[in-house]
Amino acid sequence: MLVDSFGRRIDYLRLSVTDRCDLRCTYCMPPEFKDYEDPAHRMTLEETARIAQVFVGLGVHRVRLTGGEPLLRARFGDLVRMLGQIDGLHDLSLSTNGTQLARYAGTLRASGVTRLNVSLDTLSRGRFVELAKRDALPEVLAGLEAAKREGFDLIKINMVWIPEINGDELHPMVDYCRSQGFVLRLIENMPMGDAARKLGSRSLQPVIDDLRQRHGLIDKVIPGGGPARYLASRDGQFTIGFITPVSQHFCDTCNRVRVSVSGTLHLCLGQEQNLELLPMLRGGASNDDLAVAIRDAVARKPWQHDFNARPEKMIRIMSSTGG
Ligand code: 5AD
Ligand code: SF4
Repeated sequence: MLVDSFGRRIDYLRLSVTDRCDLRCTYCMPPEFKDYEDPAHRMTLEETARIAQVFVGLGVHRVRLTGGEPLLRARFGDLVRMLGQIDGLHDLSLSTNGTQLARYAGTLRASGVTRLNVSLDTLSRGRFVELAKRDALPEVLAGLEAAKREGFDLIKINMVWIPEINGDELHPMVDYCRSQGFVLRLIENMPMGDAARKLGSRSLQPVIDDLRQRHGLIDKVIPGGGPARYLASRDGQFTIGFITPVSQHFCDTCNRVRVSVSGTLHLCLGQEQNLELLPMLRGGASNDDLAVAIRDAVARKPWQHDFNARPEKMIRIMSSTGG
């Protein structure tokens, strides 16, 4: 079992399979971004699966594949199949921007992925182009439709809340998700990198109060809910979640660590403490050696991020950390 020095049990791994992306969301990657990891320093699929295996041996039963955009990784389907065979890995999920989802939905479902998180900040094609610098909304919506047809247990829509940009889309997005049976989640923009910082972070608290009243929503707990707080309609037909890392952080119940595509174990999204696993993977370390090193690293997990006290601090962006 992995436990940090504050007694928090770490049972959830977010594993990045690429730092590349086909979008350039303003809060994530600068439009001209090219500073990708050298391919020689990317974990191979076999190394990635081995890391997952070691974490599962340490009691981590839930793994989420992230990026960048994970579906851009060559042979992604092979990786999911490899992970699907790890004994003790009870929950394999994926975060995607949806652009390639129509192609992959079937493979994902067949390999045991039961839950999907899809980023979608706007339903307007023009605004999508402004925000993500690519004209890809039709592909994303087609991907979501394909995923719905495949019958995933749960599809969550992640909408980063930047009222100046998508503030007027809250209600259309609620209607869209309600009609499709998707769970909408609003996320406060985190000050990771200059681009995100420039946009500023606006608290979701007034939005939560407003939605609660307007739609008569009540509190709801959902399995694997993580740090999101959820409200639901009384008939249970619609659920909306709020991720508030800035206005009300949830560090005291943090249960996760991240591994980037270059094999860096990040102990906190908003701090620098890490462990480089790639030199160990390539230097002959056994799975036991890796497990010991990971256990020691988790003991150094910081207590909380400094997004409020030191918003200027994080220069690392989400796509290279592993969202
Ligand atoms: N703040 C909040 N979420 C972010 N993401 C990327 N950058 C940020 C940021 N600065 C998240 C979005 C996106 C996912 C890939 O990463 O939720 O959907
Ligand atoms: Fe790509 Fe996701 Fe970053 Fe957007 S937020 S640029 S989809 S990695």
